[in-house]
Formats: sequence, structure tokens, C-alpha cells
Amino acid sequence: MRIAVFASGSGSNFAAILQAIREDWLTDTEVALLVCDKPGAHVIDRADAYGVPTFVFQPKQYADKAEFEKEILARLREAGVELIVLAGYMRLIGETLLQAYGGRIINIHPSLLPSFAGKDAIGQAFRYGVKITGITVHFVDEGMDTGPIIAQCALPIHEDDTEQSLAERIHEEEHILLPQVIQAIVNRTVRIESRKVTII
Ligand code: GAR
Repeated sequence: MRIAVFASGSGSNFAAILQAIREDWLTDTEVALLVCDKPGAHVIDRADAYGVPTFVFQPKQYADKAEFEKEILARLREAGVELIVLAGYMRLIGETLLQAYGGRIINIHPSLLPSFAGKDAIGQAFRYGVKITGITVHFVDEGMDTGPIIAQCALPIHEDDTEQSLAERIHEEEHILLPQVIQAIVNRTVRIESRKVTII
């Protein structure tokens, strides 16, 4: 399956996907394109190092979301992309992409949704004082982190945790969970009935 990864920042999840493919525990998957909305983001260097084609754009240079998503869509079609993986893409997906790729866009989020949606989820959970947080991978709909949940992984917050140490543990788990979910989708073992997702 040819996938596109959308990312805005460091790209450690992007690299984890590439590494899982290299190490052969994510199979039958090719990262055909990186889409990045932040020129200069570290994820672009990572894509170059792995030889992954990139489409980097600056949202401000377009009239609106529909305009840049039209261009993204053209690149996705050109690259034969079947699945979009949002891995730290800090932007809501608009109608243009949702219509074309509805049900074929997933997102990884660093909290147990529906708690702590939006930006800085790790900091939100840490400051709130919850004892358990985690990671969610979900299908993307028009809302912010509201789509049907595919998989979650819970992590305790220890008394001696700092936001930094918690973030490190969350990222380690993300790098396992995201390739696992991609593999399930590639294997076509993911079923969805209204909001309920099962992996058979
Ligand atoms: C990841 O922790 C991901 O879950 C989060 O951004 C980080 C990107 O890290 N995504 C969101 O918060 C989406 N709402 P990375 O660039 O190192 O992969």
C-alpha cells in the first residue's frame, strides 16, 4: 500500500514508520510522499535521508485551505497514495481532502481521546494531574481529534515524571503503535461500523 505521511515538525513518527519498513515489521507498505506545511521542519531532512519524495508548502501563500488541499490532492494522486497518515500534522483536514480520502486518513494523538484533544496534549494531561494518559490512533473526520478510534495505549504518569520524561515515554510507544495500526490497515483487517472500529 502506498501511503503519504503528513507532518509539521520533528518527524520522529515519520522516521519510525520508515524504520519499521526497513526492519521488515511493517510490510507491504511504501511511503510514497511526505507532505509538510512548515518549510525548514526537521522532518524534511529525515525524508531526504530516507529518499522519500516531499511536498513542502507554505499555507500563507494560498488563498485558503481548499486551495492548498487541491494541490496536495494532485500530488497524492500523482504518487498513487491510498492511505494518509497524519503524524504530527498540526492542521485540521478540510473538505477537499476528506471528500477524496474519507475513511482513508488516520491520525496519531498523544492522549487518551476524547481527553485532551488539540495542541499540547501531553502538557495538558500533565498539568491536569491525571494518573493515566496515553496515545490514540483514530480515523480523521471533520472535527478536531474526534474520529472513530482504532487503537489506544495507556501509560501511567509516575510521581517523579516531568513533562519531558512523560513525553519521551509517549513517543517511544507511538513509534510502536502507529506502524502496528498501519499494518492492520494494509492487511485489510480493520472494520468500522458507525463509530466502532474492530481489528479482526
Ligand atoms: C506526536 O507526539 C503526535 O502524537 C503529535 O505530535 C507529535 C509529533 O511528533 N500529534 C498531535 O499532537 C496531533 N494533535 P513527531 O514530529 O516527532 O512525530
